[in-house]
Amino acid sequence: MTEETVAFDVENGIAWVRFNRPDKRNCMNPALNRRMMEVLDELEFRDDVGVLVLSGEGSAWSAGMDLKEYFRETEAKSLGAIRKAQSEAYGWWRRLRWYGKPTIAMVNGWCFGGGYGPLFACDLAFAADEAQFALSEINWGILPGGGATKVVVDLLSMRDAMYHALTGELIDGRKAAAWKLVNESLPLADLKARVTEVATLLLKKNPIALKATKDAIRRVAEMTYDNAEDYLVRAQEAANSHDNEGRKEGIRQFIDEKSYKPGLGAYDK
Ligand code: ACO
Repeated sequence: MTEETVAFDVENGIAWVRFNRPDKRNCMNPALNRRMMEVLDELEFRDDVGVLVLSGEGSAWSAGMDLKEYFRETEAKSLGAIRKAQSEAYGWWRRLRWYGKPTIAMVNGWCFGGGYGPLFACDLAFAADEAQFALSEINWGILPGGGATKVVVDLLSMRDAMYHALTGELIDGRKAAAWKLVNESLPLADLKARVTEVATLLLKKNPIALKATKDAIRRVAEMTYDNAEDYLVRAQEAANSHDNEGRKEGIRQFIDEKSYKPGLGAYDK
């Protein structure tokens, strides 16, 4: 029987997707990477999914790449096998970065090295105070590849990124939040309730606007002001062409019906 490397349930509009190799601390082997892409494919356009949450079974979120199956075994085969394994991993992380629905990393435990790829790919991240994060690559003799260096340079200050990558020291969820690696940290016992609350808030928003907004945040980060201004005009016009009715309804309920205030919450879909 093949190992079920990814588990998921859909409940009240939320897809709860879990790394599911708890005995191996959810480290990512090629089978998990292939399966995760299939699961993302399956969930992305389902009408009953509005938000995707990524967490881990057991004590880990993900202990990074599988040192045996992802590194040692592919390196023993060929350069082609290495490149294939890389593209399978990087492929689903990229897919997640540009996912059609908002995504939330719910970091319940260990998060190492390669785990920073999917962590960054999720739009929002909430960690348990008890979670432990490290760029442990330096501890076994490589640099933080697979985007991990880029992730900490984008999210952390240069000093914190450098310290984190050079020392390989663990930080807990609280420090990860202070360093802005995650949005918030809270006791593990409260983590799922908080993530459910945020996901439920997102479910009330216009889904076309959510996708356009999350893409805009990532795209404009690398643009000059003028390029960003131009991109945003075009992105809004493209979104309008998909969703004229929703946007007009949002204006109508505020201006004509006076049934809500956009400054204080979302219109009634
Ligand atoms: N690659 C391969 N196997 C792993 C990995 C991994 N990244 N992480 C855990 N495992 C395996 C262990 O070998 C062990 O297997 P076994 O039961 O067959 O002996 C099993 O998972 C359980 O691991 P333990 O070490 O016994 O679990 P413990 O809870 O004591 O420790 C911890 C957890 C701290 C996460 C530890 O497993 C660990 O240090 N893992 C490696 C973390 C890491 O540095 N990952 C690589 C980051 S760099 C990168 O991703 C590119």
